[in-house]
Amino acid sequence: MFYVNTEDLLPGMYLGRDIHYFDMNIQAMSVLTRGIHLTEESIRALVNAKVEGAYISHLSNDIKMTQTIDTELKNQAVDGIQSLAKGFMGGHITSEQMDSINDTTINLVESVSADKDVMVNILDLKMYDDYTYHHSLSVAVMSLAVGMEFGFDKNTLSELVTAALLHDIGKIAIPITIINKPSRLTPEEFEIVKKHPIAAGVHLRKNNLVSQNTFMGIVGHHEKWNGTGYPNGLDGKNIHMFARIMAVADVFDALTSHRPYRKPAPAHEVLEYIMANAGTHFDEEIVRAFLKRVAPFPVGSHVRLSNGKHGIVIRNYPEQPLRPQIAIVGEDTSYDLFKDPQYLNVIVTGIDELDNISAPPANSRS
Ligand SMILES: [Fe+2]
Repeated sequence: MFYVNTEDLLPGMYLGRDIHYFDMNIQAMSVLTRGIHLTEESIRALVNAKVEGAYISHLSNDIKMTQTIDTELKNQAVDGIQSLAKGFMGGHITSEQMDSINDTTINLVESVSADKDVMVNILDLKMYDDYTYHHSLSVAVMSLAVGMEFGFDKNTLSELVTAALLHDIGKIAIPITIINKPSRLTPEEFEIVKKHPIAAGVHLRKNNLVSQNTFMGIVGHHEKWNGTGYPNGLDGKNIHMFARIMAVADVFDALTSHRPYRKPAPAHEVLEYIMANAGTHFDEEIVRAFLKRVAPFPVGSHVRLSNGKHGIVIRNYPEQPLRPQIAIVGEDTSYDLFKDPQYLNVIVTGIDELDNISAPPANSRS
């Protein structure tokens, strides 16, 4: 059992102790009994009653994962990108195909920006195997969260999301043998790959299907801060801000995804890679915003620690995404890796498989 501040309670958490409180609705004392799953309504009642926190049971799957976007919206997005990619392949994107993407964009912006402090739950974005289209959706959601960190208005967020959803449409024209090639590309093959940002961007802009900002985002997503990227070798702020944002999200999602030629790298290792390349490949300011908005260990994820223990993440700190607060499985305690100095030497070493967490493994070593 562990203590959670009321502001951090989530629907689905399993109450470990009774809570007696004054119910503002009925103007009388009320009780939430041990063993119930908290609901949005019961949490709201605790907030209204100014109850400071609750004891939550640590057993089994008692903390639900927070969802960034719902399944229906994900499917809508993926269908829309797929249909547009087909249109591009056939040489013509119809206005109906573009309308469908614009609807998705509006829904994504409305849904994600409803929570102004949203941290993107990367596990939520990793529930599918089909890389190409889900990759674009993941890049869109992460870019959106970063755009919010910079205070973009909704119109600008929509332009950014459209760019991210469509950034790799041009890849549909590249032979799949090159896209999925496990070994290094030949110079000729790489020349073909390098065409994909411009091919799609120009087609969309020429037919007046996207704004100039969206176009700049699509065309620039493989540029690098130090000028070594493609297609134009632009550097620094000569690269459009959308493209600088999408570059970070693109690399993050690509490296954390399963590909035919390699296993996904753990999110925290990829974040370290991105931090190491801030100022060379990536814009440092964007990387800082990205770290605040993308949770490598989302609330509810089951993690392994460097001291051999297993736990469930109960709180994320945007300023220290790699050091969350964790309820330890099998013990009545939680580790706050950010705030509690006694855990300074403990790090999270990975995320456990979701069905493998009901009991702490005996003498576990990570
Ligand atoms: Fe790309």
